[in-house]
Amino acid sequence: MRRPTDPTRSGRQLAARRLLAVTEEELQRIVLDIHDGPVQTLFAVLGRLTSLQARLGDASPELAAELDRATRQLESALADIRNLLGVFRSPLFTQRDLARVLEDVVAQHEDVTGQTVLFECPSSLPPVSLAVRIALYRVLQEALANAFRHAKVPEVQVVVRNTRRSIQLEVADKGPGFVPPPLEGPQATEDAAHIGLRGMRERVLLVGGSFSLESAPGQGTRIRVEVPVRA
Ligand SMILES: Nc1ncnc2c1ncn2[C@@H]1O[C@H](COP(=O)(O)OP(=O)(O)O)[C@@H](O)[C@H]1O
Ligand SMILES: [Mg+2]
Repeated sequence: MRRPTDPTRSGRQLAARRLLAVTEEELQRIVLDIHDGPVQTLFAVLGRLTSLQARLGDASPELAAELDRATRQLESALADIRNLLGVFRSPLFTQRDLARVLEDVVAQHEDVTGQTVLFECPSSLPPVSLAVRIALYRVLQEALANAFRHAKVPEVQVVVRNTRRSIQLEVADKGPGFVPPPLEGPQATEDAAHIGLRGMRERVLLVGGSFSLESAPGQGTRIRVEVPVRA
């Protein structure tokens, strides 16, 4: 028997999906605005401080030391802002197709961690919405980060497959494994320590997909995600 779909629920899901895409686009815009606006101004201020330092010469060692401190603080604040912006500057989703987006995540992960990712992915995947690309991007990033931080193995396997209707993503490691917390139902964990796992699942569910986590001590860990092409 087929159950009729609940219109309020699917309406809510649709709204949430739209919100997800808009939020990410907004984020990209804010990142660019910060980069092009206040960051440039701070650089100009840094330039002025440096030239003041030069003009001051040996005239006042006290003032020179104070200026030096201010310059260093400003430099360190700028470095922090750049790092934060870098973290948020996810690939330009609007311009890249899903296969490239996932490939970039893998390449970046290998670069940063030295872990080898065995990556299997069709060279082209069906076009998907921005929300789906974002969901898969975030899931892959988190699953790889977990494989590095927790599994601590030299190799991780990532497999992407597709049918005409759906895209599957699998991330597997042969690390120590763990007893997964309940992620759904009345016992579902609300523990802040599981925010990464919960986040992956929620992202996928929001685009109408499914998420599963298989792990056990001594058995490694496998994450499987399936999302509809038309979400
Ligand atoms: N691939 C993995 N191998 C071993 N343990 C894992 C793996 N992924 C997750 N875990 C365990 O599940 C916990 C929750 O993961 P997560 O929600 O991503 O939080 P975090 O990564 O911030 O610790 C981790 O702290 C770790 O104990
Ligand atoms: Mg994590």
